[in-house]
Amino acid sequence: MARVALVTGGTRGIGEAISKALKAAGYSVAATYGGNDEAAKKFTDETGIATYKWSVADYAASKDGLAKVEADLGPIDVVVANAGITRDAPFHKMTPDQWQEVIDTNLTGVFNTVHPVWPGMRERKFGRVIVISSINGQKGQFGQVNYAATKAGDLGIVKSLAQEGARFGITANAICPGYIATEMVMAVPEKVREAIISQIPTGRLGEPEEIARCVVFLASDDATFVNGSTISANGAQFFV
Ligand code: CAA
Repeated sequence: MARVALVTGGTRGIGEAISKALKAAGYSVAATYGGNDEAAKKFTDETGIATYKWSVADYAASKDGLAKVEADLGPIDVVVANAGITRDAPFHKMTPDQWQEVIDTNLTGVFNTVHPVWPGMRERKFGRVIVISSINGQKGQFGQVNYAATKAGDLGIVKSLAQEGARFGITANAICPGYIATEMVMAVPEKVREAIISQIPTGRLGEPEEIARCVVFLASDDATFVNGSTISANGAQFFV
């Protein structure tokens, strides 16, 4: 039986590449999305991957949605917490709403996605939790106090989950992508983006598939002893 993988925010950007790569690696994949029905339909038409719509910021909706995925595909073995948003503003201009929205989606969203499937992983003595963090959780970023806080928080989540899950055959790891060619990065003002690219020694943005391949590795049996780790994939822009 194919293992079941769930990817939040799995129909666009890095998440889309992750969903496709996991399918190509033989997983039975479910991709969630928050709002863009049109993109989700296009994604399913192209890939045949089932999509599910809920807000990761909502615990009850996540729990119900995850139960539906498990009823359709079977118990979730691999959970990729990828869904994330930006609400960039310099701190002095950042509103409480901009802070809260990012915390609810990017940080609480990870809790809401992993917590409901964790007991099943413990019972079955197997699980893979993969959280998509960011270079900006490692180094901070002008205009991203909210986002950087959540992405740094992701690293605390996986280091703690790794310790709790290890004796149950569960691993929890993070990936910190650098600047990847997605809509999120393309939304950064062009001048700012050009300045960022000039700081990447590889001389280019990353490709979503370059992150997806890291996910496929962490999900695999080859990565059994990799637990609580962070893979940085950033073109040498930043080292921890
Ligand atoms: N470093 C230092 N100073 C900066 C700066 C920077 N990176 N960016 C702007 N400033 C300065 C400006 O020069 C300006 O200074 P002056 O007032 O002296 O002229 C001042 O800060 C205010 O700048 P703006 O008027 O441009 O500020 P703004 O309110 O328009 O907001 C911003 C600017 C929204 C923060 C914009 O700079 C921005 O979008 N930055 C990009 C942030 C970023 O990297 N986001 C990543 C998105 S992709 C992602 O998140 C994926 C991932 O994981 C990597």
